[in-house]
Amino acid sequence: MNSENFKKMAAQKAVEKLHGKKIVGIGTGSTVKYLIDEIGADKKLFQDTLFVPTSNDSEKKLIQYGLKVTHEFAGLIDITVDGCDEIDPEGRLIKGGGGALTREKMVAYNSRNVVIIADSTKSVNKLGNFGVPVEILPFLWKNTVERLNEFYRTEINGGLEAKTDNGNLVAIVRTGDMDDPEKVFNLIKNVPGVVEVGIFLNLTNSSIICGMDGCSVKDYPLNKR
Ligand code: 5RP
Repeated sequence: MNSENFKKMAAQKAVEKLHGKKIVGIGTGSTVKYLIDEIGADKKLFQDTLFVPTSNDSEKKLIQYGLKVTHEFAGLIDITVDGCDEIDPEGRLIKGGGGALTREKMVAYNSRNVVIIADSTKSVNKLGNFGVPVEILPFLWKNTVERLNEFYRTEINGGLEAKTDNGNLVAIVRTGDMDDPEKVFNLIKNVPGVVEVGIFLNLTNSSIICGMDGCSVKDYPLNKR
């Protein structure tokens, strides 16, 4: 068994939570691709469901399965399932390795219930080793990177051609392990030109993490909306 099997196991467990839900947020990444395959395999169950995708990739895959997608609706999303790059014991996350962090954060923030699925390599005691993906505007991007560099070593991820679905760039801020993710979040978010920061605080309601010992399901009651 490898991490791909574990991602798939987490996706299989998560799909049950979507049954009967009217509006469902769908994250981005390889773990979420397994989830969309699970939904697509049972698509009769999702005829009345509207999906809110967090990226063009996820949207395309949902549409290929004949599922309904929307970018506009009133109220809250019933449930969102997404992956992560790191998750700590409080359910705090680093996200954005796939460049979709701004839409992912918007969708999570507008959801009643956020479920994170991952293989066990994503589970960490302290966030930060992955680096923090940060979506920045192309306008004055060199200055934005220089300002971020005053705090932590920062580089553009994937070069200038690698634009997000919003037409922006993604910088990776090398914070190393963080003692206070909230403080780091505020520091980065305060720099003009930063659109969104891939540190997700107080947004996870539960996680399904699968590894060699099976899947562990954890709730984070303090994060209830
Ligand atoms: C995309 C993300 C993904 O959820 C994260 O990068 C994990 O991806 P994968 O499931 O491929 O490991 O935040 O912006």
